[in-house]
Amino acid sequence: MSNAELIGKTKEYVKELLAGENTGHDYTHTLRVYETACLLARQEAADMTTVALAALLHDVDDRKISEETSAGLERASVFLEKNGCSREETGRILTIIREVSFAGKDSVRPSTVEGMCVQDADRLDALGAVGIARAFAYGGRHGRAIYDPDEVPDPELDRERYYQSRSSSIGHFYEKLLLLEGLMNTETAKTVARRRTAFMEEYLKEFFAENAGEDIKTAACKKGREQEDL
Ligand code: ADP
Ligand code: NI
Repeated sequence: MSNAELIGKTKEYVKELLAGENTGHDYTHTLRVYETACLLARQEAADMTTVALAALLHDVDDRKISEETSAGLERASVFLEKNGCSREETGRILTIIREVSFAGKDSVRPSTVEGMCVQDADRLDALGAVGIARAFAYGGRHGRAIYDPDEVPDPELDRERYYQSRSSSIGHFYEKLLLLEGLMNTETAKTVARRRTAFMEEYLKEFFAENAGEDIKTAACKKGREQEDL
């Protein structure tokens, strides 16, 4: 099988596997990560096939989707071996997948440039308008509050405490999303992360203003003054 055929077959496999997924890890997420990772790979002169396959398979064994295969990355490794990928190439891809996930203070900087491209692509998809949508989709599916005014988010969680966190979706911005910009590997991803993070900061400002009724109070005061002036 040619590399292009293997990539096509992998897309079909992942599309089928993730059908009906509704925690923000659906096939459109995988496709965006794949497209972004390939763009970054071209810029970084990384191996395109390794990046493409790792990006496409990066979530199939994620503990959020498949707890039972997450430790051994069984779905990815069985698929690659069954489709003629060499042991060395399979090993490289599994290492990238193992290093990709955010884990609070214990997040890993990938050991290869291919891994850096995939990790940046996955993290960019947690940011911006798409990232906001994914955070609330995930939070809703996992019974998290949208916002808890009594919560004090901790941006310094280690892996264990990050995995156990039951924070609200707004809290998740402070435990993960706003930290990602500082963890990007490639220059292109840093630039895009800045723009997407600025958009999320603007969104949070608006969220808290609405939550405190600031725009309503401003409008009501203005109306009151207008009536006094009559
Ligand atoms: P990672 O492997 O680095 O966690 P994923 O591609 O699996 O990356 O993406 C995780 C997605 O799930 C992100 O979009 C993130 O916002 C969302 N998510 C994870 N934990 C929470 C949470 N506690 N509350 C809201 N969203 C969450
Ligand atoms: Ni992902």
